Amino acid sequence: MSSFQDKLVFITGGASGIGKAMAESFAADGARVCIGDIGDGAQLASDIGGAYYKLDVADEENTRAVYQSIEDEYGKLDVICLVAGVALEDTTLEELDMSKARKMIDEDESAEARFFGGITALGRMGRPRDVVNMTRFLASDEAGFITGGEFAVDGGLTAGLSNSLTGALWGE
Ligand SMILES: NC(=O)c1ccc[n+]([C@@H]2O[C@H](COP(=O)([O-])OP(=O)(O)OC[C@H]3O[C@@H](n4cnc5c(N)ncnc54)[C@H](O)[C@@H]3O)[C@@H](O)[C@H]2O)c1
Repeated sequence: MSSFQDKLVFITGGASGIGKAMAESFAADGARVCIGDIGDGAQLASDIGGAYYKLDVADEENTRAVYQSIEDEYGKLDVICLVAGVALEDTTLEELDMSKARKMIDEDESAEARFFGGITALGRMGRPRDVVNMTRFLASDEAGFITGGEFAVDGGLTAGLSNSLTGALWGE
């Protein structure tokens, strides 16, 4: 797969978890990585030769200012990874607090897979690397003819979601 030499990659939520794994991966392949996070990503940015921006994606003014700073500093933005979000603490289905679950979905539509992480068709939890691999492909020159799409990186989880579980979660 093509390298990311000299590409400018911006990752929101890049200070920890999946975003951090992306930052390390792109940087290892030669990219200049900018981390935007509400938490502290300065040390990580320093470790990977990148830059850290204090960012709250819920704050439009702050978000615009960060994008403008990157534009001013680098004059380009090749790859944007929007990873910032909130997740529930680990729990079981039986102990799931539906009001918390609903709140998380409102904030992050893609978060539902977390609830069912232990029951994927492949029998294991997802790892940051699983998401990183898909992201690297979509950001690569090889994916240059892909202009949009939805790709499940969930070990078959949503493919096997029963109607009763989706009904319980979404109140249908
Ligand atoms: N880990 C999983 O199994 C899983 C599964 C499905 C979806 N997700 C979603 O993927 C995203 C990343 O998950 P993760 O496990 O890496 O979580 P994480 O908590 O490790 O990382 C999320 C990062 O986003 C940052 N962040 C939170 N709110 C922010 C805001 N308003 N502005 C800027 N930065 C903010 C946090 O400081 C943190 O560094 C989350 O939205 C999560 O819900 C995770």
